Amino acid sequence: MFDIEHQRPEHEADIEALLDLSFGPGRYAKTAQRLREGNTAVPELAYVAHLGEGAERRLVGSLTFWPCNIGGVPGLMLGPLAVVPAIRGQGVGINMMRRGLDDAKAMGFKLVILVGDQNYYVKVGFGPVPPGRLTMPGPVDPARLLFRELDMGAFGHAYGAITKP
Ligand SMILES: CC(C)(COP(=O)(O)OP(=O)(O)OC[C@H]1O[C@@H](n2cnc3c(N)ncnc32)[C@H](O)[C@@H]1OP(=O)(O)O)[C@@H](O)C(=O)NCCC(=O)NCCS
Repeated sequence: MFDIEHQRPEHEADIEALLDLSFGPGRYAKTAQRLREGNTAVPELAYVAHLGEGAERRLVGSLTFWPCNIGGVPGLMLGPLAVVPAIRGQGVGINMMRRGLDDAKAMGFKLVILVGDQNYYVKVGFGPVPPGRLTMPGPVDPARLLFRELDMGAFGHAYGAITKP
């Protein structure tokens, strides 16, 4: 069984290796990265998942959230989210996101966006941003720009550019 805890400095090397493995060298070229450069992930919303005990214990998942301004609404961008290939499909990704979204709501955040596959993120309540409603700081497939309200009605105030805070 896996467990989820907050990221700590000693996890950094394993997280970087997981992200390189999951996204390849192109990960720094993604448009979402424009919102991370010069920005800082919210420490209370940075998670790792581990599997195993003692010497067998391995980091198997990682998730961060980044502060951003979502068309006038202060919110968060979810990602990157990655799980080691050997244990994908066992709920690590969904459980890390549920934990993060619950904690973000408790912290008072009202709206979350991400760029990803709707068929997956619908499982934790994300839906598509209507085309043209919000713009990212670079090209994204409009079908992959998703949002989730943590506070009902928050999306109704979000129009225009998604920027760093
Ligand atoms: C995407 C990723 C994080 C999912 O993590 P995971 O721990 O395997 O996901 P979970 O086990 O929590 O969820 C699995 C469920 O989601 C489904 N799923 C996973 N990826 C999916 C996708 N792209 N589209 C639709 N469904 C997907 C699985 O079929 C499974 O469904 P089920 O519960 O009905 O059987 C993982 O596959 C990964 O690290 N991929 C590479 C990096 C990546 O693409 N990250 C997301 C960037 S947007």
